[in-house]
Amino acid sequence: MSSILIRNLAEVATPCGITAQRGRKMRELRVVRSAAITIRDGLFDYVGPEKDLPREDGSFDEEIDARGATAIPGFVDSHTHLPFAGYRESELNRRLQGESYEDIAASGGGIAATVHATRAASKGDLVANILRRTEIMALHGTTTAEAKSGYGLNYGDEMKQLAAIDDANDASCVRLVPTCLAAHDFPPESKAREEGKSAYIDLILERILPEVSRRKLAKYCDVFVERGVYSIEQGRAILSAGRDVGLRPRIHADELSDSGGALLAVEIGAASADHLMYVSDGGIAALSASGTVANLLPATSFFLMSERYAPGRRLIDSGAIVSLSTDCNPGSSMTESMAIVIQLATLNMKLTIEEALTAATLNGAHSLGLAAELGSIEPGKVADLVLLDAPSHFHLVYHFGVNLVRDVFRNGKAVVHQGRVV
Ligand code: NIG
Ligand code: FE
Repeated sequence: MSSILIRNLAEVATPCGITAQRGRKMRELRVVRSAAITIRDGLFDYVGPEKDLPREDGSFDEEIDARGATAIPGFVDSHTHLPFAGYRESELNRRLQGESYEDIAASGGGIAATVHATRAASKGDLVANILRRTEIMALHGTTTAEAKSGYGLNYGDEMKQLAAIDDANDASCVRLVPTCLAAHDFPPESKAREEGKSAYIDLILERILPEVSRRKLAKYCDVFVERGVYSIEQGRAILSAGRDVGLRPRIHADELSDSGGALLAVEIGAASADHLMYVSDGGIAALSASGTVANLLPATSFFLMSERYAPGRRLIDSGAIVSLSTDCNPGSSMTESMAIVIQLATLNMKLTIEEALTAATLNGAHSLGLAAELGSIEPGKVADLVLLDAPSHFHLVYHFGVNLVRDVFRNGKAVVHQGRVV
């Protein structure tokens, strides 16, 4: 039995529940001022006013004076492309001079550039990259992250990326949930010819997905459904095959154009439809009437210098389950910070701070099938917790552009203390 008391909190702010919140309920945080939290064996025990802390709780193995910090749940970043090698800062500079993301991809940059660098990296290199990136994530308050393959685009290199996530997971300060995104693009060497493309789809269907499932290297499968990449029909075939071997679908949907991705996500019962910058009215209606999470990634709009943000306000108002993620990747969103995502979701997509916090914690956990254990600060849940150097949760947006994260606990153990990785 280990026990921890965290006292002298200015505030605890958390969504509540063991499943996602949707619509108006996304605003309903539990906010306790002058609070205390106790943790026993890695789980939250007492969460409430410090003055009401039960006397029989007695002494603790560790007592922490939070000195007026605000406690929020650890962030759940449910869409990242973590296991990559190499950077693409020169593409940013080209975009600053007027080229578009799709122009750069067509000239050999984009996903293909990262595919070449990732194929050239060893599994050990990828593990080291993941561990460094998860440290940065933890320093910014993330305790759980989804991680996608998709820069291998052949059998061996997709497996290498997923094996690297698996190896890193034991040592990482962030809990990782793996997704097979073999259908991120077509392999650069096969893209020019239709036969090459259909041979790669056959490889995904017949070899990659069954082997990923057999080796338990992923929980989810994903497809980039987009003009010039995978069509709706190809996406449906790949995600159905994934589902048949026990990998639940997620979809890169309606990111650069309205390609019907949200409708496919609902049709196929995907855990999430991600991006949605160009989602149609029909897509919004379908998501709102479904259990598929609308996972929004405003840092991608920001970093691609697009004026187009996903219609987060409309999605919530029409009753969809909305989550928020970084999309951390070297091309369209080079950030590990969920705080910047929350700042963009509120200031640019017009979510309230309460909605954004629910989206970045409980609803993200739900989209990864983990909301019964994670995503809120409630007795019995896993003690994943962030202490912000701030007098209230509003500072997450109000005091923008700086890192307010002081301490982070995962499974009730400190992973960040005083702004440093433990
Ligand atoms: O989510 N949409 C496709 N994939 C990534 C971008 C990947 C890249 O540019 O390397 C995304 O935006
Ligand atoms: Fe992505």
